[in-house]
Amino acid sequence: KVGSTLSITVVGASGDLAKKKIFPALFALYYEDCLPEDFTVFGYARTKLTDEELRNMISKTLTCRIDKNSEEHFAVLDSRLKEKEAGKLSNRLFYLSIPPNIFVDVAKCASLRASSATGWTRVIVEKPFGRDSESSGELTRSLKQYLREDQIFRIDHYLGKELVENLSVLRFSNLVFEPLWSRNYIRNVQFIFSEDFGTEGRGGYFDNYGIIRDIMQNHLLQILALFAMETPVSLDAEDIRNEKVKVLRSMQPLLLENVIVGQYKGHNKGSKSYPAYTDDPTVPKGSLTPTFAAAALFLNNARWDGVPFLMKAGKALHTKRAEIRVQFRHVPGNLYKRNFGTDLDKATNELVLRLQPDEAIYLKINNKVPGLGMRLDRSDLNLLYRSRYPTEIPDAYERLVLDAIEGERRLFIRSDELDAAWALFTPLLKELEEKKIVPELYPYGSRGPVGAHYLAAKYNVRWGDLSGEDS
Ligand code: BG6
Repeated sequence: KVGSTLSITVVGASGDLAKKKIFPALFALYYEDCLPEDFTVFGYARTKLTDEELRNMISKTLTCRIDKNSEEHFAVLDSRLKEKEAGKLSNRLFYLSIPPNIFVDVAKCASLRASSATGWTRVIVEKPFGRDSESSGELTRSLKQYLREDQIFRIDHYLGKELVENLSVLRFSNLVFEPLWSRNYIRNVQFIFSEDFGTEGRGGYFDNYGIIRDIMQNHLLQILALFAMETPVSLDAEDIRNEKVKVLRSMQPLLLENVIVGQYKGHNKGSKSYPAYTDDPTVPKGSLTPTFAAAALFLNNARWDGVPFLMKAGKALHTKRAEIRVQFRHVPGNLYKRNFGTDLDKATNELVLRLQPDEAIYLKINNKVPGLGMRLDRSDLNLLYRSRYPTEIPDAYERLVLDAIEGERRLFIRSDELDAAWALFTPLLKELEEKKIVPELYPYGSRGPVGAHYLAAKYNVRWGDLSGEDS
């Protein structure tokens, strides 16, 4: 009726039942257009909560179910597509840029009602693929009710980055790298991701995942797999993914003692003030979600036995950068030992692949400073992309969408790879959550928690550039 309004008061609004059932049900009713135009929901509880806190608390459990008419809507879409396709052989690509809770429903509708009758039908999906082995396995099983594995293109956009693509070229088409690519010559490998901004605005998503799920379990681990894999039989997608999955399955279990977690805190610098992670209105107060993590991983195979693979990923750090750093062993019986003083670590070679910004590959070498006498210097053999290749580098998504259109699966994640990646991280994530491990706080814009340095030191590793020039 005109002028009428409905007020719904949930008594016990801070309780579990309200959070898990009542608010989601109200939301679903609203979403399905079953509530009157004019309504308000009130929460009533003994716990004192501001509107904002209540909203944060319940927002995570509110899920929009896909419209129940979607199958019909996809049938309409199908006829619109057919009109355009005008009887030609038609291929169809669906890009699911939607929240993960509706992946399956949409995949179902697309598959049942809007698959191509004459050509291929493919679906691109992007993480999060679940939160752990169990939920990821469930998602895969559900998707596979409607799609074959070869129709599912799981994106990890880091695999579409130019330098990641180049990693295999560097290794397998140059004589000078591959022979050194093992425990015999490599002391440690580092995969570093840092961003100089926080979760600004994405706290709602992020808080449920954290940096380990957001960056390590996928982007960094995928690069590690490419880095460490054996030579594939060919460049065929299955051959490459077979090798990657072997790496993932040879990883030693990831122990809590080999991981440190951090979270950024607010601080003031001059006139500017930087927020803490928990200042984000979409993040629950007291959240223990890590915005930074560092881990030491090991591989149980002949090539990499005992070599620490270190990962570091963080938000709100001092710099925005993603790189792979390979630190080589000392030169045995180095004739020039005395020219390096006491710190021989500073004399070892280091190969760096800077994925971003300013793509580059450089090798740190020791060199004689020109002139009389014998003074040594660290120099870079430097391949800076912007000088060597002045053309613009295509965005990762461009490459990946094109690959999906062409049916090239090399850069997409196969379901057994995904399972192996979750198998590695799930026990650790569970332990962190069950033990309520409190992240070490670090100031917004800093180099991250000092714990990361202790972790590296435990394995005789120093992060970043050994000579301290570009860390
Ligand atoms: C996404 C993460 O996968 O990668 C984000 O969810 C992160 O948290 C982003 O910011 C980084 O991607 P890029 O290409 O900007 O380094």
